[in-house]
Amino acid sequence: MTAALTWDRLPAAQQPEWRDHPAYARTRAFLAEATPLVTPAELAELRSDLARVAAGEAQVLQIGDCAENFYECTPATTRTKIGVLEDLGDHLAAVTGRPVVRIGRIGGQFGKPRSEPTEVYRGVELPTFRGHLVNSEIPTRAARRHDPRRLLWAYDASAQVLDMVREHRSQRDDTLGSGPWSSHEALVLDYEGSLLRSHDGGAYLGSTHLPWIGERTRQTDAAHVHLLASVTNPVGCKVGPTATVAGLLELCALLDPDRSPGRLVLISRMGSSLREVLPALVRAVRRAGHRAVWLCDPMHGNTVKTGGGVKTRLVPDIVAELTAFRDVVLDQGQTPGGVHLESAATTAVTECVGHGVGEEDLGSDGYTTLCDPRLDPEQTRHVLSSYA
Ligand code: PEP
Ligand code: CO
Repeated sequence: MTAALTWDRLPAAQQPEWRDHPAYARTRAFLAEATPLVTPAELAELRSDLARVAAGEAQVLQIGDCAENFYECTPATTRTKIGVLEDLGDHLAAVTGRPVVRIGRIGGQFGKPRSEPTEVYRGVELPTFRGHLVNSEIPTRAARRHDPRRLLWAYDASAQVLDMVREHRSQRDDTLGSGPWSSHEALVLDYEGSLLRSHDGGAYLGSTHLPWIGERTRQTDAAHVHLLASVTNPVGCKVGPTATVAGLLELCALLDPDRSPGRLVLISRMGSSLREVLPALVRAVRRAGHRAVWLCDPMHGNTVKTGGGVKTRLVPDIVAELTAFRDVVLDQGQTPGGVHLESAATTAVTECVGHGVGEEDLGSDGYTTLCDPRLDPEQTRHVLSSYA
């Protein structure tokens, strides 16, 4: 018999290079003692909310920034983000006729996977920006250095945001759903691993309610999958066009060995391959006994560059993927679980084209994302309307 794989002995992609930084050991030691940002009771509540989604009784709306900005973790901005999440949650409830579990990409969405380790800016090769958890977006060598003190700044920023989210959750009228809950990609293992906590004979991740595994780190023989397999939080995983039935079943067996409704959230992000790839995956996961919540992320398979080299997404492409997703899941006799979008909380944003934003607007002051282009709230409302 082989012993269970321990996540911290496995290879991990997309990790910062900062172990020789003088603050590295101290920072990890601090986090290891820090108060967790979520509680086991909250995780149990979210799992039961998600079990209702798996049973077709409710829907999920998961939205927020591609990369949160440390400088936007203020009370005023957080209040705005919570307000927009609630408004759009109410809208999705009206569109679907079902209560909506509201989940932000909020209070910890600070680590970004990148396809290239470096980029050239004005003739100089620099490390790429990896989210405020790791380095700064400012294109200088000093600012792009991986700095482990950012682990502490991320923890503090998340703590402030999650306190406000918790306060709001305790006061809301829950007729149209539940939440708001926090979520982020569990990417930087020095952060996530330091916030693992024991409870009731098991472990949970103290960094967020719903951690997810990104498309670039879902290898079944690597650290991210085994870390999330070891915790009691509900867990998500992105599922892109290269996913195979065998690979996805192996992943589901690791993440959801007990076939527990509400445990597993699969986030389809297929782009143009959706109709070809998704049906067999949806069918196989159910046949293997998992009651997964299937969400659609119609953003990450639809990123394009304009002639001027600006990264954008076209609203009609996003609508098309979302409606195709809904049709495919319904065709399999299952219920689509909801929608995962990169969406800003202010209408001043001009990053995706369509529904009021033209290609000529992309170069303006409204292009403020730290990473991928986000929908503005009006575009988001329009996209959600198509999900009926
Ligand atoms: C993201 O959600 O910002 C992201 C990087 O997605 P994916 O892992 O699906 O590419
Ligand atoms: Co993104």
